Amino acid sequence: MGTAKKQLHLGVFLLNTGQHMGGWRHPETMADRMLDLSFYQEFAKLAEKGRFDTILVLEQIAIGERNGKVVEERPIPTPDTVTLLSVMASATEKIGLTGTVSTTYNDPFHVAARLATLDHLSGGRAGWNMVTSQDPLIAFQFSKDAHMDHTLRYRRANEFVEVAMKFWDSWEDNALLAARSSGLYIDPDKVHDIHHSGTYFSLSGTSYIPRPVQGHPVLFQAGSSRSGLQFAAQKAEVVFTAQDNLQDAKAYYADLKGRLKRFGRRPEQLHILPGLAPMLGSTEDEAKKRMEHFNELILPEIAAKILSATVDVDLSSYPLDSPFPYWEIDPEANNSKKSRLQLLKDLAQREGLTIRQMSKHVIAAGGHHTFCGTPEQLADLMEEWLDQGACDGFNIMPSHYLRGLEEFVDHVVPILQKRGRYRKDYTGNTLRDHLGLTPPPHGLPALRQSTFI
Ligand SMILES: Cc1cc2nc3c(=O)[nH]c(=O)nc-3n(C[C@H](O)[C@H](O)[C@H](O)COP(=O)(O)O)c2cc1C
Repeated sequence: MGTAKKQLHLGVFLLNTGQHMGGWRHPETMADRMLDLSFYQEFAKLAEKGRFDTILVLEQIAIGERNGKVVEERPIPTPDTVTLLSVMASATEKIGLTGTVSTTYNDPFHVAARLATLDHLSGGRAGWNMVTSQDPLIAFQFSKDAHMDHTLRYRRANEFVEVAMKFWDSWEDNALLAARSSGLYIDPDKVHDIHHSGTYFSLSGTSYIPRPVQGHPVLFQAGSSRSGLQFAAQKAEVVFTAQDNLQDAKAYYADLKGRLKRFGRRPEQLHILPGLAPMLGSTEDEAKKRMEHFNELILPEIAAKILSATVDVDLSSYPLDSPFPYWEIDPEANNSKKSRLQLLKDLAQREGLTIRQMSKHVIAAGGHHTFCGTPEQLADLMEEWLDQGACDGFNIMPSHYLRGLEEFVDHVVPILQKRGRYRKDYTGNTLRDHLGLTPPPHGLPALRQSTFI
């Protein structure tokens, strides 16, 4: 008897109107439904039909103009993450609901309460993508003079999530009584004040929401710099990452899984899901032509400006068909997004791409692995990455909504199911169930032994 085939875990990314930046102009895209409640419900139902582990909603809280650069470069907004997930919760029963919420521009008390509420209202389906926020413009929107230093942002993130965990554990699991007979709504012996005295937070208090159904919402992380990896190894249960080729994805996978032991964790306690941006067609040629059509929806000059803003390099003096000056990218000195810059720099150097070619790459998927081909070819690729130890699944980034998601659900999911790689139905109810992650033990005993409670 052969051993069971490794199963894929899949997330689906909700990023404004779709992953491809030109996609909103495509007639198939529902670009005018950004503020339409039923659009988000339809998205969630479709993703649940595709048996995804989770939806992941991006947080984009800065769309301002940059030093006079043209407005065409402004990203298309995505409305408030947790509000959207609540709407989606009401339209679905099983699918995970993961929200990106910054640890740099929030307080842990409020974030812990919002995610605990989502976890309760959804019956244990909440996830938290703990980002440190890359866009320096956000700082000014929060009365700050400058974006916090990259390393410090990750230190703050680490402490932030520790505080959030304490708030979640400030209630014992059976503290909510709502007992009419005794007149006790909350068991006073089972709700505790926590105290925290650290570098970024010094506080005391109690959450006003009972402990989440899952103990803690599932913790996701999405930054792959050195500091990001360290943070992921300590705290994350799922990692989203941009990996544009199999070899680098394998090295990343081995590196991150290898870091877990130091923190007393096992490899299966953390899933790694690289982004995958598919463009499907009934033949490979058709898919490629389709991608070209999407690319043409953004003028090459605008695409180059988007590239320029993405890599923080002034490209205005370079002709579009000249070699992309990858040597000008300095990931180490950059205080925004180190790993993505490294990826784009390596890609341009390795493949000798021009500015025009790099621009297309960035508008299509921001550096994530793009794929043009048939559903079978995509399924082959997914199996290959899984079997080669490059991932535990993928974060699927449809080019445009709802069509791109619909195509994946209708044409790729059945192939993966037939090949025994993907669930035909949900077997549990919570996001932890889908991911095979056990709920964390209650932190109270540890808190009692420390000075925190
Ligand atoms: C799939 C994915 C989704 C992300 N979503 C967001 C987001 O919604 N908001 C945000 O500020 N950053 C987001 N990021 C960016 C990361 O959190 C991080 O800032 C970036 O990857 C750079 O991290 P690094 O400096 O550790 O390399 C996302 C990254 C990935 C891979």
